[in-house]
Amino acid sequence: MATFAEFFAGIGLVREAIEPLGWECVFANDIAQGKAEMYDARFGLRDFVVGDIRGVAAQDLPAEIDLVTASFPCIDLSLAGNRAGLAGKHSGTIWPFLEVLAAYSRRNGQGSRPAAVLLENVTGFLSSHGGRDLAEVCRFLAALGYVIDLVVVNARWFAPQSRPRLFVLAVRADDANRCLSTAGPARSSGAVTRIRPRIVRRFQDAHADLPFVELPLPEPPQNAPHALSFFLEDLAADDERWWPDDKTKTLLRHMAGQHRRRVEKLAAGERNGVATMYRRRRNGRTVGEVRDDSIAGCLRTPQGGSSVQFLVDCRTGKPRIRPLTGREYARLQGATRFPIRVSDRQAQMGFGDAVCVPALRWLVRHAFGHIVTVEKPCEAVTPPNLRPARSASG
Ligand SMILES: C[S@@+](CC[C@H](N)C(=O)[O-])C[C@H]1O[C@@H](n2cnc3c(N)ncnc32)[C@H](O)[C@@H]1O
Repeated sequence: MATFAEFFAGIGLVREAIEPLGWECVFANDIAQGKAEMYDARFGLRDFVVGDIRGVAAQDLPAEIDLVTASFPCIDLSLAGNRAGLAGKHSGTIWPFLEVLAAYSRRNGQGSRPAAVLLENVTGFLSSHGGRDLAEVCRFLAALGYVIDLVVVNARWFAPQSRPRLFVLAVRADDANRCLSTAGPARSSGAVTRIRPRIVRRFQDAHADLPFVELPLPEPPQNAPHALSFFLEDLAADDERWWPDDKTKTLLRHMAGQHRRRVEKLAAGERNGVATMYRRRRNGRTVGEVRDDSIAGCLRTPQGGSSVQFLVDCRTGKPRIRPLTGREYARLQGATRFPIRVSDRQAQMGFGDAVCVPALRWLVRHAFGHIVTVEKPCEAVTPPNLRPARSASG
């Protein structure tokens, strides 16, 4: 077994992803009581400290930690946010986290600092403040004795949800030979690939002073094994979460032609008759924007009016609309067996900004496989109770 500490743990989907790989969680921290409640239902709170990262001290952590993870808040780094970057009060929480990591490494002595560090955030992290934010973080890690890989992994390769995320993978420089057996230092001319796209290469080119390496990651899958329709709950026709007919009709009437045509095609049986939709305000009206593929858009926490994702279900031939349920959010994040004992809204809050389980599992298995060698068998991502959607004829 190897040990890990998860910061910004939320409901614990990092733990959900990597525990089956043989990682044992020895410390978790998050400020949100509602998330801790959901974490508790899945894992218990024995290792969980509920509170502000600013109140966590290196002495609070156990002595032996092999991996430290931090999927810190994205609000100030995302396009939809305020672009305050790491100076923002949310995403800026990475600094107290890094201070804890530094103090922990000092306390334990450089020789026994964690073997690896994983940071996760939106891809906007790469360009925040012209790249200066990410460069500063990389410099901090380099000063602690880490070499760094930058990769972008999209959840859509593992589950039917578009969710590109940047991962900063740091491994100890004095230990790097163990994991870099098949890859050398990243060069500025490094190939553009799906996980190291042009935006990553440009960042590396612009920061040649930083100690970049390439961990031996394989080519990720092309597509998720199951379409969106496979992950839907079967709600009764009279479930109050379905919109009333008149509300649906009004929205369809106000839809831009392109989106209305997508709904018509669903009703004709395309894409298993289902798609997801965001609600937007355009020219003082509420309109619906329907996806034209078989996956969901990026899940978010339901804080703003436009951040909840809706299902447009035409499987009976007649369009019906409802918000995606908390259980569907969980499934789209690959957390198929997670107990949900809270309201839909609280579940959407918990799963909306969590990590996608199979994507993270794939990444940690390949990036940090050299640290842990004994894998426990993983649960299947698709639960047995899931059925494919009914055909359009019912
Ligand atoms: C992107 S989410 C992480 C989700 C988590 N990885 C999961 O899979 O559930 C960011 C988390 O940071 C937490 N957070 C925000 N500000 C914090 C602070 N000052 N101290 C500790 N946690 C904080 C939020 O409650 C939220 O759960």
